[in-house]
Amino acid sequence: MKKIAVFASGSGSNFQSIAYAAKSGELKAEIVLLVCDNPKALVLERAEKLGIPAFVFSPRKYDSKEAFETEIAARLKESGAEFLVLAGYMRLIGSTLLAAFPRKIVNIHPSLLPSFPGKDAVGQALAAGVKVTGVTVHFVDEGMDTGPIIAQRSVEVKEGDTRESLQAKIQDVEHQLFPSVLQKLLGERILT
Ligand code: GRF
Repeated sequence: MKKIAVFASGSGSNFQSIAYAAKSGELKAEIVLLVCDNPKALVLERAEKLGIPAFVFSPRKYDSKEAFETEIAARLKESGAEFLVLAGYMRLIGSTLLAAFPRKIVNIHPSLLPSFPGKDAVGQALAAGVKVTGVTVHFVDEGMDTGPIIAQRSVEVKEGDTRESLQAKIQDVEHQLFPSVLQKLLGERILT
């Protein structure tokens, strides 16, 4: 069984969909650690209910990104995690973790990259007036949502869509896509 760590900062609905897929056997992996940079995040409650250990930290209590990533790297090593899944982690991964897990970090982003990188991709899509947006799973590099693309799914923007309605459609797609792409990567030994 592959050991993975999930990074999240907020609600954690993607974390939960990955955890359910792992429990059901659809995803042949075990989440050995949740890494969370927000002590108030809802994802921590989800992890507790699921019995998944969490490392939660406050970035401002550290001198630098290097300092907190060094601690994260130590926790990851203890946990035995072999690769890292970013699911709503609202922070750029720095050189410490990139060097420790080369080409073993993936992220999900709520747009068809390279369109609408960074924050509020759903709002950016609405403001641009596009008729189609979507979801991208990609490898993580030092840039903001710039790494090699692994998979994409489109989502139609309908007249009258609000940020909430579009976000809900995008998240439905994310919850299907992310576990299946992770399983494919593991099966093809791309991530191991
Ligand atoms: C998702 O839309 C993901 O694409 C983006 O952040 C959001 C996280 O949502 N990177 P959740 O915390 O998994 O509910």
